[in-house]
Amino acid sequence: MANTLLRVENIGKRFGGVIALKGVSFAIGEAEIVALIGENGAGKSTLMKTLGGVHQPDTGQIYVDEKPVKITNARDAMANGIAFIHQELNVLDNLDVGANIYLGREPKTLGIINSSEIYRQAQVYLDRLGLKVNARTQLAELSIAEQQMVEIAKALSQNARVIIMDEPTSSLTLKETERLLSVCKELRGEGVSIIYISHRLSEIIEIADRVVALRDGANAGDLTREQITHDAMVNLMVGRELARFKLPHHTAILDRFVTVKNLRTQRYPDQTVSFDIGRGEILGFAGLVGAGRSEVAQALFGVEPGLEGAMEIGGSESFLAHTAAQAIAHGVFLVPEDRRKTGLLLDWSIRDNISLPALRRDANKGFVNRTREKQIADEQKISLQIKAPNVEARAGNLSGGNQQKVVLAKWLSLNPRMMIFDEPTRGIDVGAKAEIYRLMRELADRGVAVMMISSDMEEVLGVSDRIAVMCEGSLTGFLTRAEATEQRVMNLAVARAHEAVA
Ligand SMILES: Nc1ncnc2c1ncn2[C@@H]1O[C@H](COP(=O)(O)OP(=O)(O)OP(=O)(O)O)[C@@H](O)[C@H]1O
Ligand SMILES: [Mg+2]
Repeated sequence: MANTLLRVENIGKRFGGVIALKGVSFAIGEAEIVALIGENGAGKSTLMKTLGGVHQPDTGQIYVDEKPVKITNARDAMANGIAFIHQELNVLDNLDVGANIYLGREPKTLGIINSSEIYRQAQVYLDRLGLKVNARTQLAELSIAEQQMVEIAKALSQNARVIIMDEPTSSLTLKETERLLSVCKELRGEGVSIIYISHRLSEIIEIADRVVALRDGANAGDLTREQITHDAMVNLMVGRELARFKLPHHTAILDRFVTVKNLRTQRYPDQTVSFDIGRGEILGFAGLVGAGRSEVAQALFGVEPGLEGAMEIGGSESFLAHTAAQAIAHGVFLVPEDRRKTGLLLDWSIRDNISLPALRRDANKGFVNRTREKQIADEQKISLQIKAPNVEARAGNLSGGNQQKVVLAKWLSLNPRMMIFDEPTRGIDVGAKAEIYRLMRELADRGVAVMMISSDMEEVLGVSDRIAVMCEGSLTGFLTRAEATEQRVMNLAVARAHEAVA
């Protein structure tokens, strides 16, 4: 390592009965990219939050340029050259880009905020990152990838020496991910250091100079550049060899268990989408972000009702759900993409979150069976390996990946006929991913039609029995397992809408 820029020693942190960090040490040099890896709940975000001034460590010391420092809030972090891009983005989408970058630090002339100066300066950083966005644009109009770049621009404008990125690519498409990785390399070239947290090991192989692994809140080992391989990282994280995941595929699929005909969504009112899913089939939905896949899912689940169209399940009458309750009544369930908005009640316990939909369904029976409820939650906690002291823990206190598991558990506790998963393994570690794939397969084998939207190419190719590809609101093609390759999927994902299949 070149000159040590930032170093922590023996950091301990406990939340009530949960010991999140047990004396962790970590260091990063100048112009270095260090990947921080570990299973869900290993303590990665917590460690970084002590550097970002979000949490105060119970024990240990932070050094910047080998001098002990205390970081009690975001301002201290900034003063020490540390910028933190959170796992769940922190931007204010009712402001414009420039205002976000300079929030609380607005350049002033005679005590008055100088807006034109804000936009001028902000634009310099946006241009430097190659982001083709005007600083006066409202943040809400940007994609997640662009919002993330805005956060990086903000870090640069604060003269950050270390930028912490907590799962920066989990909501990005392939292309956007590539762009982010090259920006990371450029920043390193300019002397900026990056702490990079990701569950996508291929990204780490591409950019990291060093890997630091945590396991159960403690250091589990480091890897130098030459030692970084997929298997070496998995070994450090899991503490044992993990067979590479291979999902068995289904052969005997009952055709057309679910049919969707001429669905017209609010987002793409000029296009219609028709497809079917066999009983026991996992139909993967590939496409670029914004292709309209989530809109199809939300229309089928009745949360953003379709303008037109109909579906049938197992020879039922045609219907188009106008509320989630109607969809649920037909046995259709959605595990949504943004767990913070639609999937999870953060202030509720794991148990309440898991039992919520079942509770609604059974509400007319007039009573809540607490014992049964706890039993279901306990079973799910074990089968999905949800890391928490018990099912009474507050969902908002769980690590990112464990929150996703609770969302899954909540729907699995019902008896679905069609399950729609929107980006089901975002932010989920290798071991638990395999568990979720296994669960999907199990659901399918129990006769459920599974629709899986995913932007993770490995997942789409590895898990789907068949792949539907969307582009700009239309289905541009279907690929059987035998036909599917990354190239073919990508070609269809960027195919122009007018070439779409009907
Ligand atoms: N505010 C909090 N209150 C209670 N427990 C917490 C809090 N924040 C984190 N924890 C617990 O600390 C442990 C470490 O969580 P952390 O978020 O650091 O994990 P992580 O390594 O970032 O995981 P992931 O890959 O899922 O994001 C977990 O068991 C988590 O539930
Ligand atoms: Mg985390």
